[in-house]
Amino acid sequence: MLDRAVGPVLDVGCGPGRMLHAAAARAIPAVGIDVVPHAVARARGAGGLALHRSVFARLPLEGRWRSVLLMDGNIGIGGDPSALLHRCGGLAGDGGTVLVEVEADPGLAIIGDCTVVDGAGRESAPFAWARVGRSAIREVAADAGLTVVEQWESVGRHFVRIARPLRTTSARERTRAFAATATTTAQITASAIP
Ligand SMILES: C[S@@+](CC[C@H](N)C(=O)[O-])C[C@H]1O[C@@H](n2cnc3c(N)ncnc32)[C@H](O)[C@@H]1O
Repeated sequence: MLDRAVGPVLDVGCGPGRMLHAAAARAIPAVGIDVVPHAVARARGAGGLALHRSVFARLPLEGRWRSVLLMDGNIGIGGDPSALLHRCGGLAGDGGTVLVEVEADPGLAIIGDCTVVDGAGRESAPFAWARVGRSAIREVAADAGLTVVEQWESVGRHFVRIARPLRTTSARERTRAFAATATTTAQITASAIP
């Protein structure tokens, strides 16, 4: 997954920060967000840069993340995958992409309530979650105004790269957009990501 990622990376639902650790090993600037304070503390404890924040809350660098990650089934966050992709597409902006892990079962599209059980057998309150297969993700992306631009498999896991649909632009527009992206990336890398 990270072989396709360009920094700055936003890892949505980072948990204990495994992807942050992997990004750091590749010298890719990355920030994680998670709604569980304990997860954020663990990610920070492992040396990652993590914020206690929901993906639907106000975030730094909105529209300027080059890669937004939804790993480990995190396309399920909130139980409305189109709304989540729409939000992540907004965080990535025109120059970025959303990298999503999807399920092997192609047409899988489940939305519902689920619970988690901890090691001591305690069950959480129900929360909204979704599961999306590697073909079904195309329609979900289209509902969000986005499109699947790449699909691949790695060690039995399935991933897609999602972006804004290409539109026809003039050579002058392309040159201007490239210059703006290069400047923005340089600013973000220099000032916003430690
Ligand atoms: C399936 S776990 C994945 C954890 C992590 N990627 C890992 O490597 O273990 C989903 C994570 O998403 C987080 N999460 C749930 N809702 C969220 C939200 N609205 N914004 C950000 N993170 C959220 C959960 O707290 C949990 O850590």
